[in-house]
Amino acid sequence: MIEKNFVFEPKHTVNLTDGSICWQSPSNIALVKYWGKTEPQIPKNSSISFTLTNCHTTTTLHYSPKKIPSRSFDFKVFFEGEEKNSFRPKIESFFNRILDYVPFITDFSFRIETENSFPHSSGIASSASGMSALALCLMSLQKRMDPHLSEADLLQKASFLARLGSGSAARSLEGPLVVWGQHPDVIGSSDLFGIRYPGEIHEVFGTFHDTILLVDKGVKQVSSTVGHNLMVDHPFAEARFDQAQNNMSRLMPILKTGDLDGFIDIVEKEALSLHAMMMTSDPYFILMKPNTLEIIERIWAFRKSSKCHICFTLDAGANVHVLFPHKDKELVDEFIRTELASFCENNQFISDHAGSGAKSASS
Ligand code: PMV
Repeated sequence: MIEKNFVFEPKHTVNLTDGSICWQSPSNIALVKYWGKTEPQIPKNSSISFTLTNCHTTTTLHYSPKKIPSRSFDFKVFFEGEEKNSFRPKIESFFNRILDYVPFITDFSFRIETENSFPHSSGIASSASGMSALALCLMSLQKRMDPHLSEADLLQKASFLARLGSGSAARSLEGPLVVWGQHPDVIGSSDLFGIRYPGEIHEVFGTFHDTILLVDKGVKQVSSTVGHNLMVDHPFAEARFDQAQNNMSRLMPILKTGDLDGFIDIVEKEALSLHAMMMTSDPYFILMKPNTLEIIERIWAFRKSSKCHICFTLDAGANVHVLFPHKDKELVDEFIRTELASFCENNQFISDHAGSGAKSASS
């Protein structure tokens, strides 16, 4: 697949009147991390993530054909019921990036209504769930104009569009595991869109849990755009990209056999490598907080004493994602409640688990 294949070239289009489309799309948590890219949102290495379930964005796209044609974008955006003009620049630049592939977006006036299932300031990035939900709405609109589009092609192009909004958004459409970025061992993998992990998956990974400990609910200290740019001319960049590719190769047999010790080793190394890149970039950042480290130490001690297969991963922030298999749920839930919750802002955490991806919510 090359970019040209995603240009909208319908055989004949259906003329639409006013309507609306709704999609609910989840967040995801990377096991092998994406950090570093080239234009246009081409990742420097492949990444793989668990698709989540409870942390999701619901977006409704109301559309009406413009009465007076124009080549400009016409949209209003509402977040949790209130008009949100601060979201406009991000959506406008997303529309500009995808215009070649969905040129019909200038034929409509849109009202975009969006809401998140997770608290507004929780430090959880909503770009993956938000951009994938919007991309899916636009692809459903394309399908209404061109009903021949298959569901598989709709999903693939939605992932392609979502990637242009936010790289990790390409991994939010399907589940439970999605790969984005070309890797020689992952058949069908691509830099342009995410694919459902095609290898064998042991049942233990179909029901994995992710409890997100909200250590710092503030706005991100380093935006993704700034963060990815820090990898340009980073002295350890090439070694990091190789490490990620190797970790993907190492993870594949682990996903097949259900080797939880091997899984823990790779996942924690990936999280710390991501943060090591930020600590050694120019300028440098420490995104972990003292409570992040306290939690990590307690997870290690608990793992040793309980023999539970619990581990942590991190995004580009201080919050800790606690990953564990279903068999350990009772013990780990108790451990989180009694030992870890006090290190979270207002004792807040979110219980989530691997899921199957985005859902159409159109009536
Ligand atoms: O999708 P972006 O550009 O916000 O980048 C996300 C990067 C990480 O969340 C840190 C890692 C990942 O692979 O999700």
